[in-house]
Amino acid sequence: MTASSMNGVVSGLENVVAATTRLSSVNGQKGELILAGFPLEEIAERISFEEMVFLLWHDRLPTAGELTNFSQQLADLRPLPAATLPLLRAAAQSMLPAMDALRMGAATLDLDLPAQDPLRQAQALVARMPTIVAAYWRLKRGEEPLPPDPALSHSANYLYMLSGEKPGEALVRALDTYLITVSDHGLNASTFTARTIVSTRSDLVSAVTGAIGALKGPLHGGAPGPALDMVFEIGAAERADPFLRSKIEAGERLMGFGHRVYKVRDPRADVLGRAAARLYQADGDMSLYELAKQVEETAVTLLAEYKPGRNLQTNVEFFTALLLHGLGLPTDLFSPTFAVGRAAGWLAHCFEQQQTGRLIRPKSAYSGETGRRWQPVDQRTDR
Ligand code: ACO
Repeated sequence: MTASSMNGVVSGLENVVAATTRLSSVNGQKGELILAGFPLEEIAERISFEEMVFLLWHDRLPTAGELTNFSQQLADLRPLPAATLPLLRAAAQSMLPAMDALRMGAATLDLDLPAQDPLRQAQALVARMPTIVAAYWRLKRGEEPLPPDPALSHSANYLYMLSGEKPGEALVRALDTYLITVSDHGLNASTFTARTIVSTRSDLVSAVTGAIGALKGPLHGGAPGPALDMVFEIGAAERADPFLRSKIEAGERLMGFGHRVYKVRDPRADVLGRAAARLYQADGDMSLYELAKQVEETAVTLLAEYKPGRNLQTNVEFFTALLLHGLGLPTDLFSPTFAVGRAAGWLAHCFEQQQTGRLIRPKSAYSGETGRRWQPVDQRTDR
C-alpha cells in the first residue's frame, strides 16, 4: 500500500475515476485536452464562447440559426434580479474580494426564474455571472454599474460592462479564447463539487454557488492573481533565479506551476501563451510578456532541481494571469473570470450527473477512538 492509499484511502482521490463524461478528456501524460470531441487547439481561437456553451450542453456546434437564438436568449437574461444589486453594494462597502461577491450574487440568480425550468436557470447563470462581476468591480471603485448591452456578444459585453468602452475585435477574440480554454477540464475540484451537489437532487444555482466556493482556493482557481504578483515582484529577469529559489527553499509553492493530472506542459498554457503574445504584440509593449517567459523558464528549471521526479510544469494559471492582465482586468477579477468560463462546464456536468441519477456518496475510514463512556460535566478533565 502506498502512502497515498493508506487503509484503502486514496489521498486527494488521486487517479480515482468517479464519473463518465463526454465533455472533456484530459491526458496528463501526453498533455492533451479534448473538449466535446475537439482538440482544444482546433476550436480555442475559432469559435465564440456562446458556441462553446452550446457545444458542451448539446454535444454539437450550433447551426447559424441556433447560434443566433441561443446568443439572444443569453443576452436577454443578462440583467440581474432586483435584489442582487443591493447585495453587491453591501459587499462593496465591506471591500470583499470579487470572488466572494460572485459567490453571494450567484446564489440570488434564480430569484426571478421559475424553479421548474432548469435550462433557463442554467442560461441565466452563464448570462448573469459577468454582470455580477462587472457590476461589483465598478461598485467597489465607487462607480455605478453599467447595464448590459444586448447587441454585444458575451465576451464583448463583459469587457464593456467593466470599462464602459466597447472593445475591439482583438480583445474580444482574446477573451473568447480564454473562456473557451477554461470552459471544462475533467473532474477538477469545482466540477466535482457541482456534480456532488446535484447528485443529491439539489438545484443548479446551489451547484454553481458551491462550485464557485471550491474554485476560489489558491490550489485551484485562485492561483493566477498570486502568479502575476510574483512576476511583478521579480521585476527583472536576473532576479528570477534568487527570488524563486528563496521561495522554494522557504517551502512555498510557485503559483502557476504543477498540476494533479498534467505531468507534461498543460496544453492550455500554450494556447493562452500564444493568445497573450498576440495581445501584447498588438499593444506594442512585449516587456511584461518577455519577463513572464523568463520567469516561467527559470521556475520550471528550479522545480526540476528542487523537486526531481515531480514533473512540475507550467499550468493554465500562469498564462491566464498574463492574458487577463493584458485585457485590462485587475488581479481581483482573475478567479471570477475563470468562473465565468468554467460555469459552462459546471452546468454541462450537472446535466450529465442528473442523467445518471446516482447519489455521490463515498465512504471514510474512521481513525478516532472507540468505547468512550459518558461522564457528568463536573467530573470531566481536559486531559
Ligand atoms: N511549487 C513548488 N512545489 C510544488 C508545486 C509548486 N507549484 N506544486 C507541487 N509542488 C510539490 C509539493 O510541495 C510536493 O513536494 P514534496 O513531496 O516535496 O512535499 C510535491 O510537489 C507534490 O505536491 P502535491 O500537493 O501532492 O501535488 P498535487 O497533485 O496534490 O498538487 C497542485 C497539484 C495543487 C496544483 C500543486 O501543483 C500546486 O499547489 N500548484 C501551485 C498552485 C497552482 O498553480 N494551482 C492551479 C492549478 S491549475 C487549476 O486548478 C486550474
